Amino acid sequence: MTKPDLEGQVALITGGARGIGKAAGLMLAARGARVHLADVLDCTGAVEEIAAAGGSAAGHTLDVTDREACAELGRRIVADDGRVDIIVCNAGVCPPGKAVWEDDADLEQWERVTNININGTQNSIAAVWDAMRKQGGGRVVIISSMAFYRGGVIVGTEYSASKAALIGMTRHLARNGGQHGIIVNAVAPGVIETDMTRDFDKPDLDEIPLRRLGTSEDVAGPISFLCGPESAYMTGTVLNVTGGIVLAD
Ligand SMILES: NC(=O)c1ccc[n+]([C@@H]2O[C@H](COP(=O)([O-])OP(=O)(O)OC[C@H]3O[C@@H](n4cnc5c(N)ncnc54)[C@H](O)[C@@H]3O)[C@@H](O)[C@H]2O)c1
Repeated sequence: MTKPDLEGQVALITGGARGIGKAAGLMLAARGARVHLADVLDCTGAVEEIAAAGGSAAGHTLDVTDREACAELGRRIVADDGRVDIIVCNAGVCPPGKAVWEDDADLEQWERVTNININGTQNSIAAVWDAMRKQGGGRVVIISSMAFYRGGVIVGTEYSASKAALIGMTRHLARNGGQHGIIVNAVAPGVIETDMTRDFDKPDLDEIPLRRLGTSEDVAGPISFLCGPESAYMTGTVLNVTGGIVLAD
């Protein structure tokens, strides 16, 4: 049984309605955290699943590109629960795309994807950073992608670029947050079976050393690890969760 070692802690997970975000919510709630799920989609189902498993959760409609809405949610969580200890910046989009130099590349898509993946992450962290600083620390987990290491195949240039930007953001915030007790790390998943990748051509399993695609729970485990005391001396790192597709740190 999971030990409730995050009892009394408050977590915000963006993109928490489904997939990796929901799985992370279930895991953090099982460790005793009060979990806030925020998404453009309805989080009711995910909140009910956490409650049915004995956890504490609330759902919020949020578009992470709306900086003021993010700030308002951060204020509301602190007003209601008194603190915010963990943020998992997981909201993201990954539409199939073309390279920027191709004639029919979609530059509106470039704007949309980078706005959600980069600015949305920045807005979400900005909403809780000051509260974490004032309370003496916190955990920030940023969801990047293996596209940061090796580029994408089906996805557009904007996706790989946005996920690489998040690694720069992780390291910058780790360097500057450490003195305030704020620990910042990233997770870079490989090919994970979620709604996001449902219609994508999948790699041959022979190309994956562990011979299977990942599950949301495979990614939620490392996210949960980065939120707990066992990773207290790690900051600015990237955990590669790819079944061995990427064999690098
Ligand atoms: N599935 C994979 O293979 C894979 C691989 C690498 C990285 N990732 C990353 O993992 C994260 C979670 O993806 P997933 O696979 O669970 O996919 P998913 O589509 O199931 O989850 C993404 C969630 O983000 C939400 N979202 C999108 N735009 C938003 C916005 N503007 N504001 C708030 N919420 C928004 C979606 O509604 C959705 O619930 C994403 O950042 C994704 O880029 C996924």
